[in-house]
Amino acid sequence: MQYHTAILTISDRGSRGERQDVSGPALRKRLQETANFVVVAEKVVSDEPEEIKKELAEWCDSGTVSLILTTGGTGFSPRDLAPEATMAVVERPAPGFAEAMRSASLQITPHAMISRAVAGIRGTTLIVNFPGSPKAASECLEVILPALPHALEKLAGDPTDCGS
Ligand code: MTE
Repeated sequence: MQYHTAILTISDRGSRGERQDVSGPALRKRLQETANFVVVAEKVVSDEPEEIKKELAEWCDSGTVSLILTTGGTGFSPRDLAPEATMAVVERPAPGFAEAMRSASLQITPHAMISRAVAGIRGTTLIVNFPGSPKAASECLEVILPALPHALEKLAGDPTDCGS
């Protein structure tokens, strides 16, 4: 099974063309090394919550995207509002993903606790926030990759018993 994935880079400077997006392409490259994911959309938006919410909701409601990864805007700066924008559009929180990412990332750097990343479900789409640096985003993707296919299978309505 291949899951259609969209990547949203959240960055004021990136959206103005003042900084090259490195994290989005890093996530895409890693996903494409696996057999399970096809990246169908990539976009850079500003830190403006309305812009983030609009993009997330449109991708989810299109019915064609199983997974959205966002990168950036999870920290403590005044404009870091990716978690709030994400929580505003999700219908069901999926806290295990952020818990696992922070827990594993704390083995790498104490700064991991600064990321306020969240994850949740809208319709049949899972949204997961990642921190903004390419290093942090790639480290976090490695943590959740092993659980994603099963999670997305279940989200798509697979009725089989887990572990059977
Ligand atoms: N997580 C991992 N795995 N590796 C990292 O280097 N950096 C942290 C944290 N999470 C980091 C990490 C830092 S320095 C910050 S400020 C926060 O993510 C928030 O990043 P963001 O504001 O770019 O989203």
